[in-house]
Amino acid sequence: MFQKILGWFSNDLAVDLGTANTLVFMRDKGIVCNEPSVVAIMRDTGKVIAVGAEAQRMLGKTPTNITTIRPLKDGVIADFDKTGEMLKYFIRRVHNRKSFISPRIVIGVPSGITQVEQRAVKDAAQASGAREIYLIEEPMAAALGVGLPIGEPSGNMIVDIGGGTTDVAVISLHGVVYSKAVRVGGDKMDEAIVNYIKSKTKILIGDRTAENIKMEIGSAFQMGDGDKAMDVKGRDLVSGIPKTVTVYEDEIRDAINEPVIVILNAIKIALENTPPELASDIVDRGIVLAGGGALLRGLDVLLKEETGLPVVVADDPISAVVYGVGKVLDDLDILRRVAI
Ligand SMILES: Nc1ncnc2c1ncn2[C@@H]1O[C@H](COP(=O)(O)OP(=O)(O)OP(=O)(O)O)[C@@H](O)[C@H]1O
Ligand SMILES: [Mg+2]
Repeated sequence: MFQKILGWFSNDLAVDLGTANTLVFMRDKGIVCNEPSVVAIMRDTGKVIAVGAEAQRMLGKTPTNITTIRPLKDGVIADFDKTGEMLKYFIRRVHNRKSFISPRIVIGVPSGITQVEQRAVKDAAQASGAREIYLIEEPMAAALGVGLPIGEPSGNMIVDIGGGTTDVAVISLHGVVYSKAVRVGGDKMDEAIVNYIKSKTKILIGDRTAENIKMEIGSAFQMGDGDKAMDVKGRDLVSGIPKTVTVYEDEIRDAINEPVIVILNAIKIALENTPPELASDIVDRGIVLAGGGALLRGLDVLLKEETGLPVVVADDPISAVVYGVGKVLDDLDILRRVAI
C-alpha cells in the first residue's frame, strides 16, 4: 500500500535501452526522450562531452581529440561505463527533480544479456537516483507494446528488428516459449551498403549516409518498378577527393540481401521450433514486426511470401518496446511476472 502511494507522487520511468536509440516514457507524458544511443568523449581523458542527438551530429565529423562511440553494439553492452553515463544522462534530464520521491524505473534490455550486463544496467539506473529498478526482456516488452494478448494461452510471434539485433520470440501466458536473437539488424544492412558501394565504385561513404540510403531507397522486395535512385557523396579511395555517385534501388536490395536472409532464417527456425498447438495460433494471427528495421520497405511482403503466413508491421514499430515497458510500469502484477 505504501509503495502504491509512493507511486502516485513519483515520476516512474520506462526505458528502452536500444543499440541504436534510447527511448524514455513517462506515465501521463508519453515519450519524453527519443535519442540515438551515442556518446561523444574526449579521446585522452575519456570524459563524456555530449550524449544522444548532440553526440550523433558529431559522429564521423569530430576533430582528432574527440571521438564518438555507440556504447551498445550488436545488442550487447560493449562499454559498461559509457552505457551507464548515457543512461544516467537521459534519466536525469527527464526526471522531474522537484518530485521528492525517486522514480521506479523499468528498463527493456536485449534478450539474453548476461548477469554482468544486467548488473551494469541496474548500477547505472541506481546512480541516476532510481528507487526500484526492474529489467524486462525486449521481445516481451515489444509484444506488450503492440498489444498482443500475451497473457492468453495462445501463441504470439513477435519479431523485433533493431539496430544491432533481431529478436524472434513466441510468447504465451506471460512467458517466452521460444526465443532466438541474431546479431543482425539495421546496422548490418548499413555496413553491407558501405561495402557494396566501396567495391563497386571505389568510393567510401559514412555509416549515416548508408543508413539514409537504406531508408530512402532500400527495400527487401521489389515493390514498384524498382528504379528509384539517389545521389550520394563519399570519398574517392583512389584520388582521395570527395565525389558523388548515383545508386539504384535494385542494387541496394541486392546489397542488403544477406542480412535480410539472416532475419528470414531466424524466423523460419523459430517457426520450426514452436510447439504445434502454438504454431497453429501463429498461422491464424500471423507474425508481428516491431523495431525500426520493420520499416524497411517490402520486408513484410518478403516474409509473407517466404513463410506463407500473415505478417503485420506494428503501427509505431520504433516505440513498441518503450510502450510495452510503460504498460508494465502501471501493472505490478504483470511486472512481477515478466521482470527478469
Ligand atoms: N524507414 C526505415 N527503413 C529501414 N530501416 C529503418 C527505418 N527507420 C529506422 N530504421 C532502422 O532501424 C534501426 C533502429 O531500430 P530501433 O530503434 O528499433 O533499434 P534499437 O532498439 O535501438 O536496437 P536493438 O533493439 O538492436 O537494441 C536502425 O538500424 C535504423 O536504420
Ligand atoms: Mg530495440
